[in-house]
Amino acid sequence: MNLLTQEQLNNIRTSVNIVDVVSKYIPLAHKGSNYWGVCPFHSDTNPSLCVSPDKQIFTCFVCHKTGNAFNFIMEFEHVSFQEAVKKVADMGNVKVDINIKSKPSINNNLYKIYEDTNKIYQNNMNTTFGSEAKKYLFDREINDEIIKEFGIGLSIKARDVLVKGLSKKYEMKDLLESGLIIKTESGMIDAYQNRIMFPLWDLEGRIVGYSGRIYDTKEGSKYINSKESKIFKKGELLYNYHRSRDICRELDTVIVMEGFMDVIASYKVGVKNTVAMMGTAVTKYQANLIKRMASNIILLFDGDDAGAKATMRSVDELLELNVTPKVVRLEDNLDPDEYIKKYGKDAFIEKINNPMNIMDFKLSYLKNGKNLTSDVEKASYVNDILHELEHINDDILIELTLKKLSLESGLDVEFLKSKIVKEEKPKEKVTETKKVDIKTTKYEQAEATLLYYMLRSSDAINVYNDYVTNIRIQKYRFLARNILQFYKEFGKIDLAAFLDTLAFNQEALDTVGEIQSLNLKEDMNKDDLIECAKVIQEGNYKDAIKALEEQMSNTDNLEEKVKLSEEIRKLKVRRMKDVK
Ligand code: GTP
Ligand code: MN
Repeated sequence: MNLLTQEQLNNIRTSVNIVDVVSKYIPLAHKGSNYWGVCPFHSDTNPSLCVSPDKQIFTCFVCHKTGNAFNFIMEFEHVSFQEAVKKVADMGNVKVDINIKSKPSINNNLYKIYEDTNKIYQNNMNTTFGSEAKKYLFDREINDEIIKEFGIGLSIKARDVLVKGLSKKYEMKDLLESGLIIKTESGMIDAYQNRIMFPLWDLEGRIVGYSGRIYDTKEGSKYINSKESKIFKKGELLYNYHRSRDICRELDTVIVMEGFMDVIASYKVGVKNTVAMMGTAVTKYQANLIKRMASNIILLFDGDDAGAKATMRSVDELLELNVTPKVVRLEDNLDPDEYIKKYGKDAFIEKINNPMNIMDFKLSYLKNGKNLTSDVEKASYVNDILHELEHINDDILIELTLKKLSLESGLDVEFLKSKIVKEEKPKEKVTETKKVDIKTTKYEQAEATLLYYMLRSSDAINVYNDYVTNIRIQKYRFLARNILQFYKEFGKIDLAAFLDTLAFNQEALDTVGEIQSLNLKEDMNKDDLIECAKVIQEGNYKDAIKALEEQMSNTDNLEEKVKLSEEIRKLKVRRMKDVK
């Protein structure tokens, strides 16, 4: 499946330092010989991710994710191995001859069609046809610079501009697939006519669709989005993600809005760490993306009821991932764009700098429309809040909320607290961490230990080769064999390079992570390694003898019994010799 040889992969991987690669995504602090950061692969606030410049790998000691620079990018950006390799090659300025298709199964023409279309749309905007659209944008305080930055264009009032412009270059089936051209009884026509066209990008910044806005009429839908395609899934992208990713990381804050016009309006006033989800509420997929963008998340939705409702749902989606966002609400039902226009940049920034905690938001949201002088309504309000608190893990936030609720309801804090039914969330789901199998026996511990050193020293591999006949735990056995194979092929063990051979085997990668998390001292001398191998062998003898004893008790054939007993005796003799 690898298109590149191990040597080519090595060249690419060693063209960068993993510390630089990981630093592009998360802040790292230098401690001892390693670098440490907050792991982006499980929810945490402590720095449990260790990046080793010596080994060129990262390991999280909580969720046990491990890997080299390629693995990090794959995991972080949700891209394929090939794409990750390509990215590292770009970072290290290594030319990759082999054409690594970004998404192998996807017709690359679609991207080209959207790109070419963008040129046509942008050009339209700058012709006389565009004067009214420009005026509309200028009225909304979107100047030429912003128009260019966001690639805003215009589909003009004509039936077949794209049909004429693109059909020479692309096949009709691709054009139809793009959704920019549609088939009617009178032939092929442009899907968008006379709308201001906002390109929509995927996470990598490639145009994958458009949203077209009316501007000189009140007729028809305000916006028409491109139909979803193989490369455009609205719920799986965030508007402005690629443009804001770095700045969000830098500020460690991402502001999530409803509409892309809000993002553009914020950008205008210099607030650039924003994305928009372009739907009604944050999807699970988007929540996962947002979670990785920064540790501070602010939901800044429209000030109307729909916006409050969307905030509620999005908060819950994020809480599911153990992420606690903050909330900003805008007065007078305004959306961020309108708020900036009405109150100005400074008031807007002031708002962002003073977000509410989610429970204050929920208190006010759930109180809305309720008459708290009525006992019935008060009881329902109190129950609603207690129910919300079931999902909150932050004890301080719970206590603070209960104090407020107690004041509002006249009920005792302790009483209220006793009514919270803490739901037993499966730990795995909340923290997304993987439990390390508890090595129940000394044999299994020995296997893990030997593997730990096999990942770093040829001595350990030789000891395994010379002394160990079997590894009990299947996933360890698989790993040991792969290490041995790598060693035979390359004459040494290089952990970062070895990980490439496992790039398509998540289970094996997880096993490496588990072993790495043992975090043993760096070296073990050969005698100790041999001792370790002997423990493993002791386990093997024990298993073999046990199996024979079972066979013996299961047979009534005397001859068979004698034979088995002799085998057991021989094994015991060999065990004496081998193990001690
Ligand atoms: P403006 O009215 O131009 O300021 O846009 P807005 O950002 O205020 O839009 P709004 O809050 O009404 O909607 C938020 C998002 O929902 C938009 O960015 C669109 O992606 C989407 N949206 C809004 N109206 C429509 C519509 O009529 N059709 C479709 N398909 N999507 C819409
Ligand atoms: Mn608006």
